[in-house]
Amino acid sequence: MINRKLLIEKAFEAQKFCYTPYSNFNVGAALLTADGTVYQGCNIENAAFTPTNCAERTAFFKAVSEGQKDFVAIAIVGNKAGVKQGEGDYCAPCAVCRQVMAEFCDLDNFKIIIAKDTDDYLEHTLGELLPLAFTGKNLDK
Ligand code: THU
Repeated sequence: MINRKLLIEKAFEAQKFCYTPYSNFNVGAALLTADGTVYQGCNIENAAFTPTNCAERTAFFKAVSEGQKDFVAIAIVGNKAGVKQGEGDYCAPCAVCRQVMAEFCDLDNFKIIIAKDTDDYLEHTLGELLPLAFTGKNLDK
């Protein structure tokens, strides 16, 4: 059972730790594992730009680096600095993050919750957001 409200709250909590001096666009993510653990992530920017890590990948890499590989859902919030909770736009995961999700998550079952607020969100499966995904299956893995 996914507690969507709690997962979105955790994403907002993670958003507070973002490091975004270049874009001032603040993203938070909360990744739920099958054992009920929640891994939080924020975006972490860099003066050289390309080393920037999105919030979603921060959450995934934290989880995988601690031995987790079974994922249920991720909640994502993102907006320009200064926008109040509930007043921003939906922040959909970038294509690179979708590809990272596809490495570890089932396309039909993994849920992506894109939230403006705890009671205002879109929900899609990974497969809906990454149709015709190229995955390890293409490489017989
Ligand atoms: N960003 C994320 O953290 N996740 C996304 O899915 C979209 C983009 C970050 C990267 C960069 O720090 C800032 O938002 C602007 O692109």
